[in-house]
Amino acid sequence: MRKHIVAGNWKMNKTFEEADELINDIKDQLEEITLDRNTQVIICPPFPFLEMATDYSEESYFAVGAQNVSDQESGAYTGEVSAAMLESMELEYCIVGHSERRAYYHETDEIVARKVDQLLKHGISPIVCCGEVLEEREANRQFEVVKKQITDGLFHLTAEQFANIIIAYEPVWAIGTGKTATPEQAQEIHAFIRGLIAEKYGQAVADETSILYGGSCKPGNAKELFANPDVDGGLIGGASLKANDFIGIATAF
Ligand code: PGA
Repeated sequence: MRKHIVAGNWKMNKTFEEADELINDIKDQLEEITLDRNTQVIICPPFPFLEMATDYSEESYFAVGAQNVSDQESGAYTGEVSAAMLESMELEYCIVGHSERRAYYHETDEIVARKVDQLLKHGISPIVCCGEVLEEREANRQFEVVKKQITDGLFHLTAEQFANIIIAYEPVWAIGTGKTATPEQAQEIHAFIRGLIAEKYGQAVADETSILYGGSCKPGNAKELFANPDVDGGLIGGASLKANDFIGIATAF
């Protein structure tokens, strides 16, 4: 179902106590507001804090996601976390293919495809990131880059499987830089992505897919970004580390 989604990607931030404080703050603030019924708030803390987050989520209005998952099922993969483990913690979402993982940990579209398969096998919705770097945007290659990421990472799925996918378009030049895509730039590429999905799976599947924007999204710019017909919410980095900002974005629809 196409939902409005605001997902907080904490990245590698917060200690145990700070995580506890932030989740509590988010929980308290969510109790004081009325979210649109079609809005899903998700927090994606680092692995060590997932259990804490799922415990709190039982009495709150947010869902919990992981930031990464192994592309392997189980076994001798030191340091990795499997989709089966996330499933056993009742996690509902997991980010895949974030540009930081692509750039620093060599996560290719083929790896993204395998991670997506693992997550779907274990009933977890992948939040799949795509987006171009600055030089590609300057060369007007953003469409071709995003098309390849989506095609190679996702288009091996059946339409039924694809119904569980959430896409996050995150121009790499906007991540953590304070530079946001303009609402027009976001709408243009979100519509392009929805068009790719329609071509492959049909308009009905495309219309049901949530496509999030990520990259320096803040309470001050969320409203004009989310006002676009093909922008269904945001994947929020920096601003998800402060409850006020995060909730400010969650109420920007
Ligand atoms: P940012 O990060 O909001 O800090 O730009 C977004 C992301 O990387 O998911």
